[in-house]
Amino acid sequence: MSATSVIGLQWGDEAKGKIVDLLTEEHDMVVRYQGGNNAGHTVVADGETYKLSLIPSGILHENVISVIATGVVIHPQALLKEIDGIVARRGAVEGRLLISDRAHVIFPWHMLEEAALESNRRDEAIGTTMRGIGTCYRDKAGRTHAIRVGDMYRTETFRSRIGEIVEFKNIVLKAINPDVEPLDADAIFEEYSEYARRLKPLVTDTTAYLHHALDEGKRLLFEGAQGSLLDLDHGTYPFVTSSNSSGCGVHSGSGVSERVIGRMLGVAKAYTTRVGGGPFPTELDDEIGQHIRDTGNEYGTVTGRPRRCGWFDAVATRYGARLSGVDGIVIALLDVLSDLDELKICEAYEIDGERITDFPSHVDSLAKVKPIYRTLPGWKTDITGVRKKEDLPAAAKSYVDTLAEVIGSPVHIVSVGPDRLQTIFYNE
Ligand code: GDP
Ligand code: IMO
Ligand code: MG
Repeated sequence: MSATSVIGLQWGDEAKGKIVDLLTEEHDMVVRYQGGNNAGHTVVADGETYKLSLIPSGILHENVISVIATGVVIHPQALLKEIDGIVARRGAVEGRLLISDRAHVIFPWHMLEEAALESNRRDEAIGTTMRGIGTCYRDKAGRTHAIRVGDMYRTETFRSRIGEIVEFKNIVLKAINPDVEPLDADAIFEEYSEYARRLKPLVTDTTAYLHHALDEGKRLLFEGAQGSLLDLDHGTYPFVTSSNSSGCGVHSGSGVSERVIGRMLGVAKAYTTRVGGGPFPTELDDEIGQHIRDTGNEYGTVTGRPRRCGWFDAVATRYGARLSGVDGIVIALLDVLSDLDELKICEAYEIDGERITDFPSHVDSLAKVKPIYRTLPGWKTDITGVRKKEDLPAAAKSYVDTLAEVIGSPVHIVSVGPDRLQTIFYNE
């Protein structure tokens, strides 16, 4: 059982990047297996801040191999830009970054279609990152208009595939908006052929590579993107992303059986945030919500949008933890709550006068629930310098222990700041 998996338990941005970076030293490889450049993972390493989107956080460690596996959707421009940034700051990536030849490619039509679909939903817009993620996964599932990384190296079929797809997409895009500029198949072919040429040294069959690595006893660390409540099948549909972003996606996205995972760690913030649309029972539209946003710097890594903030929702997070099958949790950004007099944890919902603890399957029901809160005292002390459980104020310890109790899983790590060092190994 040589693998660890790090999964977000809420609606994303739980500090997965920091935790993956922290655990990388104990592993030989870090694997991203779903999502794309909708993800924004922040790592503070050696006093410098890195914003990673498609590249696994392992890239900041020289002797670790970073793998972008089959289930990821790749926007080559975004990936190359990110690679250039890493090369400039940390040196060459060849030999330590691998890209699956089975991963699907995001093209300009994916962004154009997404813009049309989102504006068509008006008030009901999903509030996506507009990176063509959902439309690329849609074409992947549809099979007829999709291109994988490996297809870009079969030059003549690649050229003709782009021709066929562009012809079809131009009809669709024009039907939606008669003023739209048609896409130019030849120009897209030339542009993407150049991206393919640059990426070639990194492209391989990552599934076979990972299988061999396991045979050799290598230790794998799976880096989840988004969070369990944004999972396409199990999240707050349709206000979700288009991949399996709970623990359910590790196997399908990487091609590695989840049976090799010895440790499934779920990351949760000490409160809740969400970007984009969809119900959010514990949302705070008041000065406490604004205080959390300001103190936690809760603005999207990818789009810069202010994140919606609210109290910790144990019903939602427990659901995320059960979906992902976690055996331990990480409570991150605990320091953000340090100034508050009292804290609330939503331990159940009330709907039509009834108390429920199961997460509703329909967003209309979720939109109707009233949170039932347990109130705890704040600690009103700066905890960013605390490194040991016993040095935490009693009220902070009690808050963390209550989270473990309501989620139903032991706390392994508490994070009290963005830096690697600002970490408490809570179960030691
Ligand atoms: P991810 O998408 O799950 O990797 O999370 P993001 O990087 O999008 O958002 C988490 C943010 O919180 C980043 O800016 C981190 O640098 C920061 N961060 C991580 N852990 C802590 C913590 O314990 N305290 C504080 N104050 N910030 C943290
Ligand atoms: P990380 O990995 C937070 C949200 C978007 C939107 C919904 C669908 O940094 O935690 P998409 O572009 O995926 O079709 O958007 O999902 N979303 C995220 N929210 N963190 C993320 O990634 C997210 N990736 C997508 O805001 O509500
Ligand atoms: Mg993020």
